Parts: sequence; C-alpha cells; structure tokens
Amino acid sequence: MKIAIGNDHAAVEMKNEIVDFLKELGHEVVNFGTDTVESVNYPVYGEKVGRAVAAGEADCGIVICGTGVGISLAANKVKGIRAVVCSEPYSARLSKQHNNTNVLAFGARVIGIELAKMIVTEWLSAEFEGGRHAERVNMIMELEK
Ligand code: RB5
Repeated sequence: MKIAIGNDHAAVEMKNEIVDFLKELGHEVVNFGTDTVESVNYPVYGEKVGRAVAAGEADCGIVICGTGVGISLAANKVKGIRAVVCSEPYSARLSKQHNNTNVLAFGARVIGIELAKMIVTEWLSAEFEGGRHAERVNMIMELEK
C-alpha cells in the first residue's frame, strides 16, 4: 500500500519509527513531515495527509501529534476523510471494519511505540465490511454536503 504520513514536532521520533516499520512490512511511505523538533502547527500536516488521501495519491494516511487529537481534527476537515484517533487496537480494527476510516491518528505523548505498531498493524489488516455499515458511512459523508 501507499501510505501518507504526517506529524508535528511532538511526534518526529515516533513517526520515524513508524515509517521504518511500514517499510519493513513492504509498504510505500510518503512523508509529509515535519522532520524537525521545532514547534510547528499540526493542522498543516493533518491537511497535507488528508488532501493526499482524498485525492487518491495515497491509499490511506497516518497522522501523529502529541495526543493525535488536533491533527486528526484537521485531517477530518478535508472532504472525503474519515480519521480516527486510537489508543488501542480494538477501536483501530473496528474503525476500518465498520466506519471505513482512511486516516489513522495516535498520540506520541499518549502511547508507546510498540502499542502504536500494534494499532497500525490491526488497522492496516482490517477490511471494511460494507453492508449495513456502508449505509451509515454514506450518511456520515452526506453531512459534508
Ligand atoms: C503540541 O504541543 C500539541 O498541542 C499537539 O501535538 C497535539 O497534541 C494537539 O492536539
């Protein structure tokens, strides 16, 4: 898969570890930064990843900030994006199976790298179940109009 990734200054180290992990799994990664620990504004990076995914330039996206909250809120403002913040793998899996999320977020100040890897693994391996869930996801997307 081609995966877009973005983060703020709070998550540079975790982003780098997740990029390595994704490459080890055989994925292509497009890094939208930031790559320095100088303070930046997380909406910039949430938007970049959101736009890449919405445009079909990436299959899905991963965004990381201190909590995962701000950057996921920004990504969610891009039309076509369904971003979820997860601190455990169960919600990550169900967010794909039931909600067809296309951007995963987590907080570098909230979870450790091993849990982050488990969340990523669970999210990437899950598939949208469609059926009754498709109708509900469509209802969410109608709210963008
Ligand atoms: C940056 O200090 C912090 O606010 C940011 O990383 C994130 O947690 C925002 O939601």
